[in-house]
Amino acid sequence: MSKAAVIAVDGPGGAGKGELTRRLASELGFSLLDSGAIYRVLAYAARKAGLALFDEDSLCQEAAVMDLSFDPREDGVHVLLGGDDVSSAIRTEEAGANASKVAQLPAVRKALLQRQRDFRKEPGLVADGRDMGTVVFPDAQVKIFLDAAPEVRARRRVSQLEAAGKQADYGLILKEIKERDDRDRNRIVAPLKPAADAVVLDSSDLGIEEVFAKAMEIARARLGL
Ligand code: C5P
Repeated sequence: MSKAAVIAVDGPGGAGKGELTRRLASELGFSLLDSGAIYRVLAYAARKAGLALFDEDSLCQEAAVMDLSFDPREDGVHVLLGGDDVSSAIRTEEAGANASKVAQLPAVRKALLQRQRDFRKEPGLVADGRDMGTVVFPDAQVKIFLDAAPEVRARRRVSQLEAAGKQADYGLILKEIKERDDRDRNRIVAPLKPAADAVVLDSSDLGIEEVFAKAMEIARARLGL
């Protein structure tokens, strides 16, 4: 029996994967996996429990027991940890940096593998992450690697923060983006890189409509829709 369809969308933070994957899932009626949120919640839970972000054994135990769920609501998908809504708390720059620290640890990645694979079900899944096409779903029928220049991603992040009425320092955000990229691209396990059979899209000069149209074209061709 063939497995449910998976559209794997990988790439660095801020390339537009979140918006793209939400649109693809909604257009195709597929479910959605935001794998970054899982790493963010683990780092958040670890901090709350007073664990060091390099304490691999304790982090693995936390990964095995943490009560994480996604709750789709009208204003977006809320992330719950033990029933508490942690959606905003896990979206800070610091939470992203902490997530990328725990994500460097091989045993932690392994401990979270099955939790991610369990999202695969009919009629299909759109999976957003760094290693969806390379490690978690190597047999995904569609693989897209969405890239964008760090400067473009930093500008987008500044606009997002300003739109939310928050202060944003472009220089600092660019520095944090480059540091996180370095950690994600150079780690030993599941480094951020396009799968050999991925289509690379660069969104530096493309709006979300164009990226979505191109991704839908690729998905339709590969899935025979
Ligand atoms: O995508 P997001 O910015 O929420 O991811 C936060 C961090 O989690 C990333 O910088 C990366 O280090 C890690 N991550 C990962 N593998 C994934 C998704 C996220 O290592 N599949």
